Amino acid sequence: MTQNEQKRAVGMAAADLVDSIVGDSDVVGFGTGSTVKHFVDALAERQTTFQGAVSSSEVTTEQLQSYGIPILDPSNVSSIRVYVDGADEVDPHFNLIKGGGGALTREKIVASMAQEFICIVDESKRVSELGQFPLSVEIVPMAQALVSGEFARLGGIAQLRDSFVTDNGNVILDVTGLNLRDPASMDRQINEIVGVVCHGIFARQRPQKLIVGTQRGVEVEIR
Ligand code: 5RP
Repeated sequence: MTQNEQKRAVGMAAADLVDSIVGDSDVVGFGTGSTVKHFVDALAERQTTFQGAVSSSEVTTEQLQSYGIPILDPSNVSSIRVYVDGADEVDPHFNLIKGGGGALTREKIVASMAQEFICIVDESKRVSELGQFPLSVEIVPMAQALVSGEFARLGGIAQLRDSFVTDNGNVILDVTGLNLRDPASMDRQINEIVGVVCHGIFARQRPQKLIVGTQRGVEVEIR
């Protein structure tokens, strides 16, 4: 299977799973990215009925609306039954790096609201230790110099993502060179930097289930 075929396969597997667990009154959370795009297509094909969607980006919202799926304002939602999203890296403990698509802040909010988080990835995303993929950090634009300096103190090199504005009107720094051997500790340290809105280490929002597309087929792992 090619990488795209693996993404499609995990999108379909997640759609089967969500189809089997959600009912008319349930809210489903949707992530962002090419793997999630396959998931949305597959769920629409199954004509799964649920109350509505909480979306993590304008791009995903557009796709959901194209299928007539109602979009709910998360401020009016008390609980999300299940959240499905991709990742840029996943380690053996299900810690994630996310944010390649720049939607990390809303993704982390939706993941935090969900009863269950299912992560869908192709096998290239599996790593023994996080940190090869640059860490995306959403910041308030005026804090760029301040935050870049703080990352330098942590051993990182921060690069402003060119011509990119997030759905929240902020900018993204892509940070390389950080030691992510202890993702939970780095998660906390970055949260303390003034000017950081959110970052792409998901150590406190780890998925309960991981669906991986491999050459042998789709594999499901439970934490
Ligand atoms: C977007 C993300 C995506 O989940 C991540 O970048 C994976 O994307 P893809 O499914 O296209 O490989 O975190 O902010």
